[in-house]
Amino acid sequence: MDTKDSFRHFIYTDWILIENQFDPSQLQVRETIFTIGNGYVGTRGSFEESYPHALPATFIQGIYDDVPVVYTELANCPDWLQLTITIEGERFRLDQGEILAYDRQLDLRQGILHRAVRWRSPSNQTIDINFTRFASLADPHVLGQRCQLKAIDFDGIVEIQASVNGYPENQGFNHWEGLDQGKIDQGFWLQSRTRNSRIEIGLAAKISLSGTQALCQVNTTPGYPTWSASFYLKAQNLVTVDKIVTVFTSQDVKSPVLAAKNKLTQLPDYSTLLKENEATWQQVWQDSDIVIEGDSTAAFAVRYNLFQLLIAAPRHNDQVSIPAKTLSGFGYHGHIFWDTEIFILPFFIFTQPTLARNLLSYRYHTLPGARRKATHYGYTGAMFAWESAVTGDEVTPRWSLPRDFYGEDVRIWCRDREIHISADIAYAVWHYWQATEDDQWMQQQGAEIILDTAIFWQSRVEFNTQSQCYEIRGVIGADEYHELVHNNSFTNRMVQWHLEKAVLIYDWLQDNFPEQASQLASKLQITPTDINKWRDIIHKIYFPIHENDELIEQFAGFFQLKDINLTEYEPRQRSMQMILGVEGINKWQVLKQPDVLMLLYLMRQSGDFPYNQNTLTANWDYYAPRTDITYGSSLAPSIHAILAADLGKSKLAYQHFLQAALVDLEDKRGNTQDGIHGASAGGIWQTVVFGFGGIKIRNNQPVAHPHLPPNWTRLKFKLHWRGQWHEFDLYPTPPQVPHPVVSSPQIQGTIFDLDGVLTDTAEYHYQAWQRLADEEGIPFNRQANEALRGVSRRASLMLIIGNRRYSDAEIEEMMERKNQYYVELIKNISSQDLLPGAVSLLDQLRQAQIKIAIGSGSKNARTVIERLGIADKVDAIADGYSVQKPKPAPDLFLFAAQQLGLAPSLCVVFEDATAGIAAGLAAGMWTVGLGPGERVGAAHVVLPNLAGIKWVDIRAKLTRYSR
Ligand code: BGC
Ligand code: BGC
Repeated sequence: MDTKDSFRHFIYTDWILIENQFDPSQLQVRETIFTIGNGYVGTRGSFEESYPHALPATFIQGIYDDVPVVYTELANCPDWLQLTITIEGERFRLDQGEILAYDRQLDLRQGILHRAVRWRSPSNQTIDINFTRFASLADPHVLGQRCQLKAIDFDGIVEIQASVNGYPENQGFNHWEGLDQGKIDQGFWLQSRTRNSRIEIGLAAKISLSGTQALCQVNTTPGYPTWSASFYLKAQNLVTVDKIVTVFTSQDVKSPVLAAKNKLTQLPDYSTLLKENEATWQQVWQDSDIVIEGDSTAAFAVRYNLFQLLIAAPRHNDQVSIPAKTLSGFGYHGHIFWDTEIFILPFFIFTQPTLARNLLSYRYHTLPGARRKATHYGYTGAMFAWESAVTGDEVTPRWSLPRDFYGEDVRIWCRDREIHISADIAYAVWHYWQATEDDQWMQQQGAEIILDTAIFWQSRVEFNTQSQCYEIRGVIGADEYHELVHNNSFTNRMVQWHLEKAVLIYDWLQDNFPEQASQLASKLQITPTDINKWRDIIHKIYFPIHENDELIEQFAGFFQLKDINLTEYEPRQRSMQMILGVEGINKWQVLKQPDVLMLLYLMRQSGDFPYNQNTLTANWDYYAPRTDITYGSSLAPSIHAILAADLGKSKLAYQHFLQAALVDLEDKRGNTQDGIHGASAGGIWQTVVFGFGGIKIRNNQPVAHPHLPPNWTRLKFKLHWRGQWHEFDLYPTPPQVPHPVVSSPQIQGTIFDLDGVLTDTAEYHYQAWQRLADEEGIPFNRQANEALRGVSRRASLMLIIGNRRYSDAEIEEMMERKNQYYVELIKNISSQDLLPGAVSLLDQLRQAQIKIAIGSGSKNARTVIERLGIADKVDAIADGYSVQKPKPAPDLFLFAAQQLGLAPSLCVVFEDATAGIAAGLAAGMWTVGLGPGERVGAAHVVLPNLAGIKWVDIRAKLTRYSR
């Protein structure tokens, strides 16, 4: 096993999180970390047999119930996991007896949690117990659990009880009333209802036992239906118990119990369910995975964060969204914040756009609540709730109640004042639309969100006749340490941006969907006067930017507050708010989380005002040292990481990245027991893709400007943009080899990759691989072949065989066989196979007395060159026999330059693969990339191909570049 790193008994492999020791002090934290789910249901990693102080929980999307103070919360649903195992009269439990071996593993590839325990009972019987559980991604209503028992050193009576606990609690509060329950063959069902929201749940379970004869029975203790079996376990015999549970609620179907019972009868066995689950996960990872090489902690932690988002995202329901703590803990009661739209959503927009749409539709469905909120506060339009649940009405608690007897209640002002959320949602809607061009959704739902919230802003701004500016007074910005501020720059600019987009959307709707436009205008009562008012606000909204130094004041008067030097408070383990007090902190220039910097980050993607490098530098220098980055908000580190990467502060960027990536795995803030930090997880995706990958949208497509952290040797991910997948396979540009910087490039030699540049043998490679794959019975096709571009023969084969097992000898044989097929096929190559423009360019180079070499990793390069009929046009050949290290190492091109007798800086490389451009840059050469920007964007000059290309033009472009 590729064991790589550890944290308090944790081992991270590529895909598996391993905990190899049980530490009761970490119980609740680990319950959060080992959460599994499928976007419908999330279940914390609590033990099947339970443990003192455990916080078991199963949450189902949308199942909220009323509760004092915080209004409504996700109700902890009946616990489907309970298994009680009794060995010769003694109950298996980890707080008694002796744990001889312990190993818990979360497999991210398939969302499966395993636990293997060797336990010695107080009266000295040793037993191996293995547990497995999963929530099927293939069918959201299906949950699977397996328990395997093996007696090690005794023969004896074992009893196992498999139950569903109908009395789960939200930390002391029970939301359920039992309605009914009953038996079925080898199982039972349970029907309950939430006390106030009156949502019904139906669960059905069937249990099967193999490996022994047993006496099985079902009893229906009220609220606690249980299947039990008693059997004689002989030493070394393996007994397996499979429990399959189905679950529905009255939000899915009319009669949840009936649906659960029906589904149960139709299901295949446990192993088949597991396979279906695995296949669905595989598809999801194909689009959403990020590959990082050279840094195993980062590689695992990134996947872990993405996994936690994937299991929280509703796949079949657009009336719900992802709570701040996902479906993994009681923190924030399942309420939904801006965390979803601003931090989490981009991951879905770019890798699972249909799920992104579900999340945004939730906001559409909650517009009625947002309208009620606006009306309540005396405004028009829709004012989204700072904390939202089922209806969209505001559910931020009004008070935070102290734990000690004499403490004062603290008023929470976010519900009244943290109004930027309405602009944040509009921002998310706009960016979803930009990335997907989903016009249909925009005209049916998105436009209404953007326009009705614009109406709210129109009623919320105030015109100051003295300054002749529109102002927004009495708000909390992104930084919640300041609770009553006027003209918060973040809010004001977001509102201005929002109104700019609202005007555009209104026009777009009128131009493209006039009927919809007039219906919406009459529903929302928008008139041309309103649009003019929006334009006026856009022009006259107050925005405090200092003229000379580009420093933006966070809000009016911020610079007059007491200044702070945070280093004077180190070391600390508490937030600055705890140190200075909720009231006190308002008087200081200390931020809980980025505010001006948050604004710059959000404007960065489109390069909009006030984002530019100077503003970023000035504001970073001012605000970063005043931000409580360690204990303020978990939303902060990922944003700081991205901006630090933009500013070339790669060490700091990496530190912040790790702080966010490990926030839960290493419980960095001491509150992981409350649930996964969902926003931080989403921020991680943005840090890797937008920060380290440097993805920006330019000329309407994503382009990479990578700044990989020091150890990373590769970063690979996919982005879905306007109907197409863009694959990014990024390598570091070694800093020790500077780009050639001369005022006018003195180019004396050219080095051409062969495949994809002068000719296209990809088709022959494809045919050879296809033949081999067919012979081996491995699924393969043209699409799968795309992933092999520029990849070595061995690596290609590895990709094709996936996780099928072959011996080294078999692998060697297959590589050889493929090569034979290929060699046979390329016998047919002729000058017809030269790509358009190739001969012309070679001839122009000859005329200009520029030397020509071939730099191809193929061992068949010479044969191909001969057959193409260009052997007499080239001066040197570097091929698969010339050097050891393949591209992206610079060796092959350096060898070619040596053959030409030229210094690397006098050569220009023509390449069509990412690894080839990286190799050319690493060699210190000029590079011309042929193909799409996402593949060869790192090159000095990018061209679609060689057709019609003039050497003088390339030379001119390189000259321009070097100035
Ligand atoms: C958060 C607010 C939230 C409040 C009540 C605070 O800790 O910072 O955003 O609204 O709790 O849930
Ligand atoms: C942050 C908010 C965030 C909330 C929920 C608070 O501590 O300040 O920005 O929305 O937590 O994660």
